[in-house]
Amino acid sequence: MEEIAKALVAPGKGIWAADASPKTIIKRFKDVGIDADETTNTRFRKVLFDTEGLENYISGVILYEETLKNEILRNILVSKSILRGVKVDKGAIDLENFPGEKISEGLDGLRERLTEYKSLGAQFTKWRAVITIGKDMPSDVCIGLNVESLARFTALSQEIGLVPIVEPEVLMDGKHDIVRSEEVTKKTLKTLFGELKEHRVNLHGMLLKPNFVHHGKDCPKKVSDEEIAQKTLEVLKATVPNEVPGIVFLSGGDSSIEATKHVNRMNEIGGVPWQIAFSFERALEGPAMEVWQCKDENTKKAQDELLKRAKMNSLARTGGYNEEMENE
Ligand code: 13P
Repeated sequence: MEEIAKALVAPGKGIWAADASPKTIIKRFKDVGIDADETTNTRFRKVLFDTEGLENYISGVILYEETLKNEILRNILVSKSILRGVKVDKGAIDLENFPGEKISEGLDGLRERLTEYKSLGAQFTKWRAVITIGKDMPSDVCIGLNVESLARFTALSQEIGLVPIVEPEVLMDGKHDIVRSEEVTKKTLKTLFGELKEHRVNLHGMLLKPNFVHHGKDCPKKVSDEEIAQKTLEVLKATVPNEVPGIVFLSGGDSSIEATKHVNRMNEIGGVPWQIAFSFERALEGPAMEVWQCKDENTKKAQDELLKRAKMNSLARTGGYNEEMENE
């Protein structure tokens, strides 16, 4: 397990989160003008998984359950020696008595599902918890319940021999400034690692997937890439134990280029015990989805877009990226 965790954050590589739920992916397709039906996602995945050279930058792909169960799609990744992961939470639902807050479900029967995923060749798993910033939010109850679920997910995944990617996402939605994001992310991660310790998990055999410490989407006070990188590193240093092999960021609604810049800047600053990598969904596959438009004649263009983002993020792993490379 420790070997898989290390391989996922091998130098120059990162993870692609191709695990949007059917509901989410239909929305993403709609947003870029694709009139999607239930076959669209399988077609899109096939086009992108076939991208030549993807394995040079992408160590692992997180799949939605249906995609893991699709032998053709799964085998494309196997043939490229790309590790297969699976999203195992069943989504975030409203938290009773706490309007605006969410709790992720999916622990019931998880041990059996994990065993099945392993038999299908999965090597790692992901669980996403959602923390919302707002008036009187997040509550201690929301953080407490979500980190407890994350800890059980982590322990169960490790019991089955799957590397857990632990994702406590503090959402970028809202008017809050970066200081508030810093405070909430710090509290969430501190609580999370306290809980993981209590649950006796193996910190060497997991990865953390956090948000960038970032101003809210609707905050009038936007901060620089530098401040985002600095504050994110400060929070991680104060909360994440050295044993964790890697931190793989989610993009959270940042543009592709901004997300790449944050990872790049953090790697330039360096001085941290963990690998700083990526596990993006939108920031990796978003541009490809836009050019694809569900048309066969756009296959190559979509693959080029994905490969470009994968390559830019790979460069960011060593701090070797700069924005001018986008136009080369
Ligand atoms: P984004 O990079 O689009 O935030 O998605 C990452 C992810 O896996 C969310 O669960």
